[in-house]
Amino acid sequence: MDITQFKGRHLFVAGGSSGINFGIAQAFARVGVNVTLISRSADKVAAAATQLQALGTQAMGIAADVRQPEALQAAFAQAEERFGPIDILVSGAAGNFLATALDMSPNAFKTVVDIDLLGSFNVARMAHAHLRKPGACIVQISAGQAFTPTPFQAHVCAAKAGVDMLTQVLAMEWGPQGIRINSIVPGPIADTEGLKRLAPTEETLTAMAERVPLKRLGKIEDIARMAMLLASDWGSYITGAIIPVDGGLAMSGPRDFTAAAAASRREKK
Ligand code: HXC
Ligand code: NAP
Repeated sequence: MDITQFKGRHLFVAGGSSGINFGIAQAFARVGVNVTLISRSADKVAAAATQLQALGTQAMGIAADVRQPEALQAAFAQAEERFGPIDILVSGAAGNFLATALDMSPNAFKTVVDIDLLGSFNVARMAHAHLRKPGACIVQISAGQAFTPTPFQAHVCAAKAGVDMLTQVLAMEWGPQGIRINSIVPGPIADTEGLKRLAPTEETLTAMAERVPLKRLGKIEDIARMAMLLASDWGSYITGAIIPVDGGLAMSGPRDFTAAAAASRREKK
């Protein structure tokens, strides 16, 4: 792939201050992409933007919650004013915890649906006016829970299934405008908050890696590379796709988080 194609483009990352989403931002920053990051914490997002600037690119961090459409509207306007229309939008703000449906209050379920699903809608909806047309590429960050019924994950399963359907509907509606949108489905990615919450002990982490046909946890870089492929000219005919980048985990059936949930309950005490 010719990486010079990325120079001077504008990437906007929702939920971009840590983990996988920040790793994607770093990968694009290294090839000269200007980056706008948003997340709830003003301190976290400012520190993340400073780290990107150290890679030699321009970056701006804005505090905004994906549950607040007005805050997003303001963030997208500020981003376009600074770096021009958005070429690449990564939408990956999410929340998770292990709890059975009966241990979840209606507000606990709603909180995750509001961040993951409604938040993804808000981000895409409010971004639309500021996307480059034709040419913009949206990458939604989904999870295997979207198609794998998983005990202790009713909220995430429901929300991420909705995210993937949203990806496909927007691909239909916005394809004629030259906007592509796809979901990446990461497997268990080492050294991330998400994995810490689902595999809080050495034992549960090893068991998780064992279930992966390629017998290893993923790296943030594995996900960043797929995001770059989708945003590049190599991805120009791909839209509405749900793409697992998971070492084959999607083929291995339902997961059992009983031990992980017991361990995280023990840790809380
Ligand atoms: C049961 C819980 C709970 C838990 C929170 N709640 N934690 N219920 N078990 N462990 C309930 C609260 O009691 C409350 O309900 C409701 O959820 C909202 O909680 P708040 O703390 O007020 O919400 P908020 O401040 O908005 O924080 C959202 C959050 C939090 C999701 C609860 O954990 C968060 O900010 N997470 C962001 C970071 C994160 O989760 N990263 C991982 C993403 S990875 P009541 O009824 O008491 O009001 C991912 C995984 C994919 O998505 C798969 C990986 C392999
Ligand atoms: P993470 O580091 O916790 O990343 C979540 C990001 O979202 C943070 O930057 C957080 O920053 C932000 N965020 C949370 N709630 C927000 C809100 N309401 N509004 C705006 N920003 C918000 O977690 P991660 O593990 O890297 O996960 C990143 C993505 O990958 C998620 O979509 C997750 O579902 C997906 N995923 C992860 C794994 C894995 O193994 N880790 C596997 C499959 C899928 P603030 O706290 O500052 O808001």
